[in-house]
Amino acid sequence: MAGGDGRRPLVGGNWKMHTTRAEARTLLAALARDCPAGPGAGVDVVVFPPAPWLGDAADLLGGTAIAVGVQDVHPEASGAFTGAVSAPMVAGVATWALTGHSERRRFFGDTDAVVARKLAAAVAAGLHPLLAVGESAAERAAGQAAAVLQRQLAAALAPLLPPGGPRVVDDLAVAYEPVWAIGSGRTATPEEAQEGCRAVRAQVAAHLGAAAAARCRVLYGGSVTPDTAPALLAGADVDGVLVGGASLDAAAFAAICRAAAAAAA
Ligand code: PGA
Repeated sequence: MAGGDGRRPLVGGNWKMHTTRAEARTLLAALARDCPAGPGAGVDVVVFPPAPWLGDAADLLGGTAIAVGVQDVHPEASGAFTGAVSAPMVAGVATWALTGHSERRRFFGDTDAVVARKLAAAVAAGLHPLLAVGESAAERAAGQAAAVLQRQLAAALAPLLPPGGPRVVDDLAVAYEPVWAIGSGRTATPEEAQEGCRAVRAQVAAHLGAAAAARCRVLYGGSVTPDTAPALLAGADVDGVLVGGASLDAAAFAAICRAAAAAAA
């Protein structure tokens, strides 16, 4: 269940390209008021608003334990990359960075190599990294789900390994998000979520060692709702959830955060 090996559950809210500024501020104010977060609440919570609202999020969540994250970062720190946002730029406003989301891979051409560079850039800037991985429906049907996770994790984690041994990335979190479950309303079964998260942790152990794997928080993502969260969070390797659609509803998101805290209690 969530909270294994002393890991505090982690819940992420990925707003994607949703909300006007007014909607974002209303949602942030509701979360600040109603959403449990932090060590006392037994759950770590991070929201990933669209980049233009990061400053609003930092302001409105300032007095709370809810953290702010950026949905993506550019691999480079600065340069002639019109429209892009770098990890050092957001490091003063956000504390987390999401990399490797399947929508970035699919719609923006983020390859495994690009995701690896983005993850390394986030770590270098001092951001807590949340790496997303997961297989497509076709890959799963072809029996390649495990191989896809292996490939994505090998590529992303390799740059964290300088010669001489694994670099300690204390705060690494990985979200297992089967592409077929994202935005589809087809949540993975609790067994599928647990199996994916177990496979992710095994790969983290293979690349970064057993201690890093025991520390790493592995999240499930894909059509998580307040109704499905409790059973998903019961998996031994499921340390939390990454929530898309339901994170745009403050009451639903707060209920999921409470479910995560309860699963670890
Ligand atoms: P969803 O999105 O909850 O809307 O399926 C999850 C995600 O993309 O992280």
